[in-house]
Amino acid sequence: MGRARTRLCYLFGVSLKKKIAILPGDGIGKEVIPQAIRALEAVGAPLEFTSFDWGADRYLTDKTTVPPDGFAMLGRDFDAILLGAFGDPRVPTNIHAKEILLGMRVEMDLYANVRPVRLLDGRLCPLKGVEAKDIDFVVVRENTEGVYGDVGGVFKKGTADEVAIQEDINTRKGVERVVRYAFEYAANHLRLDGSPRQNVLMCDKSNAMTHAGGLWQRVFKQVGSEHPQFKCEHMYVDALCMQMVRDPRQFDVIVTNNMFGDIITDLAAGLQGGLGMAASGNIHPGKTSMFEPVHGSAPPIAGKNIANPFGAILTAAMMLRHLGLGAEAEKIEAAVLAALLAKKTTVDIGGTLGTREAGEWVAQRVGA
Ligand SMILES: NC(=O)c1ccc[n+]([C@@H]2O[C@H](COP(=O)([O-])OP(=O)(O)OC[C@H]3O[C@@H](n4cnc5c(N)ncnc54)[C@H](O)[C@@H]3O)[C@@H](O)[C@H]2O)c1
Repeated sequence: MGRARTRLCYLFGVSLKKKIAILPGDGIGKEVIPQAIRALEAVGAPLEFTSFDWGADRYLTDKTTVPPDGFAMLGRDFDAILLGAFGDPRVPTNIHAKEILLGMRVEMDLYANVRPVRLLDGRLCPLKGVEAKDIDFVVVRENTEGVYGDVGGVFKKGTADEVAIQEDINTRKGVERVVRYAFEYAANHLRLDGSPRQNVLMCDKSNAMTHAGGLWQRVFKQVGSEHPQFKCEHMYVDALCMQMVRDPRQFDVIVTNNMFGDIITDLAAGLQGGLGMAASGNIHPGKTSMFEPVHGSAPPIAGKNIANPFGAILTAAMMLRHLGLGAEAEKIEAAVLAALLAKKTTVDIGGTLGTREAGEWVAQRVGA
């Protein structure tokens, strides 16, 4: 999609701006995404934004979750997607969130969920004696299989004999491509201090989940043997959680399945200052990819101008880097770091500013 459009643009002399689809979504998504756009505009990146109203309000108005041809249109017409969060108490089934967000990950085959875990300011970490330089790892989470398959069922519902079965789907193709992505990520992304990444760790629960774990073990061993420059490590997910709290310095690149990746990245977000600080990308190399802060729609704090916009702003920087705009990404990251050092932040991380004011401070710094 992207390359064909670039060629046509060149031939017909039209704008070469990257086209970004904006889906703020629900709750605080609608507050933090405008701050991310402000930073993108301030940095002067060659981008063109188109906003979409997919979310709870639209669903409650006309029952639309994803308009017909919606995902095909995003893949065809856009270079990247910047998304807020989905989830609204007025839609107790969460059907719109499932169809939009999980639908996008699966239908657009965004198989690698990349979640960098970086401590930008040591004061944000709840662990004793940990400095900013100590936490700089990434979790690569499988993003289209596992529990997303929604395979299972309930038998004798509501009775004393009720049975509930929930399957965890792991295919050879799905496991292999995300494990390969993790090694490629390790090879192509330096640590913040400029040093090369050195180890890739696979996390599973193969002592109890022997069938799925066995597949992950075999694939990891094979793909790892093709990348002898990296030390290959393994941890059971329970041990990994303990180690992440005991000594997060030891991690570099972690690859894991859908559910474990979901859980360990909330724990990891706690190490970097909370959910308001965590960024992520949903990637399929060569296709239109989607970028979103790790947090959800946080209904209790929505509409109060108190949500931390930095996770969304750092997500925007991640998107820029993915689009080949590394210098612009660096400027935005530097401005967020400056805001942290100057304590120009929202209350969740110790400041006194509102969402808009923190976003404004970063945008001004970016543009200075
Ligand atoms: N990717 C997504 O769209 C996504 C991810 C997780 C949850 N959700 C949905 O969001 C809704 C709420 O879920 P939840 O409460 O489990 O998760 P959540 O991430 O919305 O909130 C968890 C906690 O973190 C806090 N928090 C989150 N983001 C913050 C920010 N930017 N600044 C300050 N504090 C922040 C919240 O106030 C809350 O205490 C549900 O409907 C859920 O399904 C959506």
